[in-house]
Amino acid sequence: MKATAIAPSNIAFIKYMGRKDDVLRLPENASISLSLSNLLTTTTVEFSDQYDVDRVTLNGEQEDGESERVIAHLNRIRSIANINLKARVVSNNNFPTGTGLSSSASGFAALTVAGAKAAGLELSEKELSILARQGSGSACRSIPGGFVEWYDGNTSDESFAETIFPSRHWGLVDLVAIVSKERKTVSTSITHGKVKDSKLYPARIEGMNKKIERCRKIIKQKDFHTLGTLMEQEALEMHAIFMSAGIIHLTPESLALIKAIRDARTSLNLAMYFTINTGQDVHVLCESQNVQEVQKWLESIEYVQKTIQNTAGEGTKLSDEHLF
Ligand code: PMV
Repeated sequence: MKATAIAPSNIAFIKYMGRKDDVLRLPENASISLSLSNLLTTTTVEFSDQYDVDRVTLNGEQEDGESERVIAHLNRIRSIANINLKARVVSNNNFPTGTGLSSSASGFAALTVAGAKAAGLELSEKELSILARQGSGSACRSIPGGFVEWYDGNTSDESFAETIFPSRHWGLVDLVAIVSKERKTVSTSITHGKVKDSKLYPARIEGMNKKIERCRKIIKQKDFHTLGTLMEQEALEMHAIFMSAGIIHLTPESLALIKAIRDARTSLNLAMYFTINTGQDVHVLCESQNVQEVQKWLESIEYVQKTIQNTAGEGTKLSDEHLF
């Protein structure tokens, strides 16, 4: 059977970084994110006895280095469904891949939902989130919509994500500033292991439960400036840990933009805050009433190639429009 799913990427206010179990992808700490309306992966999966091998096409290319991870995920789905049919997978992103926009989150969420359906499984949202997590940790947060928390958990069954506030709760806008389309040189999977070399890492983990609780409360109160301040501090803390573990994920353009955002906040009174993952592209958060002003300012910066506007998005959905 053939099935197609459309999944959102997500942006974490409080980040997942470092794992307590590499195989099951159990995170060291809980995280909180927003599902994004306009960074989407569409994936079609078909299991059939007509196929002799698994064939994976990602963004129009047959081999792009991610196929092995995709096939490992198909194996998880086959094992739950108790089938051994080979599959054809076609997947497209509507945004650049491998530049820090969490294409693995939307990618593995879409693969999970389309793959499970195509294999004849009827899984709950929680079961889909647990399964997606094993493909790519942050993918578990792309199964539900709106404001999402991923509970760290000590077992696979305890480590899943769910909506804590629906998308309509708060009109936040995430403007993604694309500063370059180059793919990152150090993969996030490697970084999850390397952060443990940092002397700063244990201090981070110690403070995480409190940070999560605080973030939940701030979102509930819709306190934009406090959320923005917490989110920036969190991104800078994560990058400080990367650097102290010998990894640099920031590029000159991303660092310049981060500094420009902080300056313009004071000098131009622009209400915006940044966060950034393991790639170079910068996420700029603002409230809907300020979006035009913030977008215009971002697009006036010479090294900002374009911006992508996202509101709080829905979770992963099945679609009838198959890619093959
Ligand atoms: O799911 P992964 O292994 O691609 O890790 C995502 C890590 C960050 O994007 C840096 C943080 C996060 O929580 O999304």
